[in-house]
Amino acid sequence: MTAEASTSVVELKQDGDVLLVSVNNPPVNALGAAVRQGLMAAMEQADASAAVKAVVIVGEGKAFIAGADIREFGKPPVQPFLPDVCNRIEACSKPVVAVIHGAALGGGLEIAMSAHYRLALQNASGGAKLGLPEVSLGLLPGAGGTQRAPRLMGVNGATELMLSGQQIGAKAGLAAGLVDKLDDGADPVATGLAYARELLAQGAPLRPVSATPGRLADKAAAQAELDVLRADTAKKSRGLFSPLKIIDCVQAALDLSFAEGLKFERAQFLACIDSPQRAGLIHAFFAERETAKIPEARAAQPRAFSKIAIIGGGTMGAGITVSALDAGLVVTMIERDAESIARGQANVEKVYNGLIAKGRMSEEAKAAILARYTPSTRYDDIADVDLVIEAVFEDLEVKKAVFKELDRVCKSGAVLATNTSYLDIDAIAAVTSRPQDVIGLHFFSPANIMKLLEIVVPAKVAPDVVTTAFELAKKMKKVPVRAGVCDGFIGNRILATYKQAADYLMEDGASPYEIDEAVRGFGFAMGPFQVTDLAGGDIGWATRKRRAATRDPKARYVEIADRICENGWFGQKTGRGFYLYPQGARIGQPDPEVLAIVDAERARKGVTPRPFTAEEIMRRYMAAMVNEGAKVVGEGIALRPLDVDVTFISGYGFPRHRGGPMKWADMQGLPKVLADIEAFAKEDALFWKPAPLLQQLVAEGRNFDSLNK
Ligand code: 3HC
Ligand code: NAI
Repeated sequence: MTAEASTSVVELKQDGDVLLVSVNNPPVNALGAAVRQGLMAAMEQADASAAVKAVVIVGEGKAFIAGADIREFGKPPVQPFLPDVCNRIEACSKPVVAVIHGAALGGGLEIAMSAHYRLALQNASGGAKLGLPEVSLGLLPGAGGTQRAPRLMGVNGATELMLSGQQIGAKAGLAAGLVDKLDDGADPVATGLAYARELLAQGAPLRPVSATPGRLADKAAAQAELDVLRADTAKKSRGLFSPLKIIDCVQAALDLSFAEGLKFERAQFLACIDSPQRAGLIHAFFAERETAKIPEARAAQPRAFSKIAIIGGGTMGAGITVSALDAGLVVTMIERDAESIARGQANVEKVYNGLIAKGRMSEEAKAAILARYTPSTRYDDIADVDLVIEAVFEDLEVKKAVFKELDRVCKSGAVLATNTSYLDIDAIAAVTSRPQDVIGLHFFSPANIMKLLEIVVPAKVAPDVVTTAFELAKKMKKVPVRAGVCDGFIGNRILATYKQAADYLMEDGASPYEIDEAVRGFGFAMGPFQVTDLAGGDIGWATRKRRAATRDPKARYVEIADRICENGWFGQKTGRGFYLYPQGARIGQPDPEVLAIVDAERARKGVTPRPFTAEEIMRRYMAAMVNEGAKVVGEGIALRPLDVDVTFISGYGFPRHRGGPMKWADMQGLPKVLADIEAFAKEDALFWKPAPLLQQLVAEGRNFDSLNK
């Protein structure tokens, strides 16, 4: 009887008087339709069989259950629905125990909360990871989680999980009221069976969470907590749809019966499913996992590496050093002279001292990490390293000299990488006798924090050097994106284009403050002129001066930023740029003198300013971004549109809930985006030249996503 009820993804086994229910749906036991059906059948069997006195649910492999099957969202729903599965588990007439040894996330934790008892394993390999991450997918726990979690953990405990999306371990789960018992055992089955027998021996009762208000019993106190949270969430959620809906669902848990609360939750969940934010966030989730799937991965195993060298200990060199040390690597930093290397070391220590000051690291931990760090001014000291990352000045001649040295000293087979932002990596590789070992590793500032790593693949690099770079990214917990060689690679090349669109908007009539406000309104943390002030206006100015000789004389060039720099106004560091920063303020104030410069430049060029709404600003800003993105994909600089999306989400503050620029364009409809570009081209045909790929996709009735498959 037992074997008959088993399915390929949910196996049932009678062990004495306990029914063991094993979910086996690799890689993470997501709750696809077959698993939901299997769990329903398991509960039927438990109820029907007199031999079953208790039920134990476990997950096979590394996870308990990582949640609903995200791939099913947006498709027609298939029965049985997850909330019904959870209710069925809770309604089982025999005590049900959930044994959590790995990830119990989203719907997985909702299954566990529907069981009558929860046992969490804690062991050396990590143990239970409990979380309700739906918010990061634009959703809310939709299988009773918003109703059961507050009953188990109280308003604050439950909302902390639901609003942050973060995971907690077994011990924290016990403290929060989510877990009944901890165990150090490594075998979920044996531990679970033992616990079930212990409960049976005690005559432990069925304990449906829905049956009592639990930690919501003090309604007035719970309401007070929720009122504070609502105000706080309204302030912090910055246009996100699901966080306030989560608060509404917890309010329903306070006000309504469990059954009515579930109905309310279901309606809110479906509204979230229908929202474009859900589509954007789920696209981002899968896209971030897809970028590591590269053509080289099939053929080439990564080279082994444990010892690495960083050349240059400035802003980037120090940040990359911290990233490498945190990844457990042994690092030698090379600088020009004694003074520079002391500064480089100080730059590294500053990061760890900051953590110590915040109480997030001990002096001992810092010392243990720095034991793997060696400062040096001698290239001969890095003869035996496996991998080098160069982060010296952005000057081709300086970099060529460094690579000649690396070619001289490094062992054969060492990977030689450059962190250049714009320079031609083929030209850098050409000065060595081993271009097959030379690659670009473009980190973002601050390198120890920013997730994006553009892996720039020059013409002659060997496939196993590319896979080694992806392996390094994994070790450093970065989001890697494969890029081809061109001026600015994927990110900075597209940035240069939409920054130009912003400059044109400014000269044509929008103030820099209106543009920044529109861009923030779209969901970016900062507008382009705020970013310039933060990075330092002098950096872009130097690049513009360098490129003046090669600029197309027919291309429109806006000089407003140059006028501002000529005054020595380089942004935050000089107290003024596009904004004023009195007394070291970090948030700028509009500057009437900047507006006067803008007016004067318009007058000098004979431009009659016209008003732009925020919507018009964003249409141009985004059209420029998408058009250049399409060129980058069309030229093969990015493998797929999703690589552009991930670049912007992880490295340029693009609002994640919009899924990235290419996903955004798909959601607008490509014909509409192309029509905008063609309309703008009537003003400036050179800048607004439509990308051939965009034209082709529109002609074929396809979208960018069709190229992601
Ligand atoms: N559904 C479908 N596929 C999933 C999935 C899910 N819930 N979770 C992970 N996967 C897939 C990944 O896409 C990946 O596929 P690939 O190998 O083809 O690229 C594979 O499983 C392995 O995933 P990771 O590479 O992320 O593996 P890790 O070991 O690094 O991480 C994890 C494991 C922590 C479970 C991580 O995958 C994760 O966070 N998953 C998402 C969990 C989540 O958000 N759950 C909530 C879903 S929404 C929900 O439950 C709604 C409910 O309330 C109604
Ligand atoms: P930086 O000026 O802060 O640091 C450069 C360091 O290189 C200095 O400490 C200098 O002493 C050292 N150096 C110069 N020549 C050297 C040599 N021959 N041998 C050893 N050390 C030498 O510059 P930053 O900002 O760290 O930039 C470094 C590289 O990273 C550049 O190529 C830049 O384009 C790139 N980059 C910079 C980003 C940023 O936001 N600052 C972002 C991404 C890449």
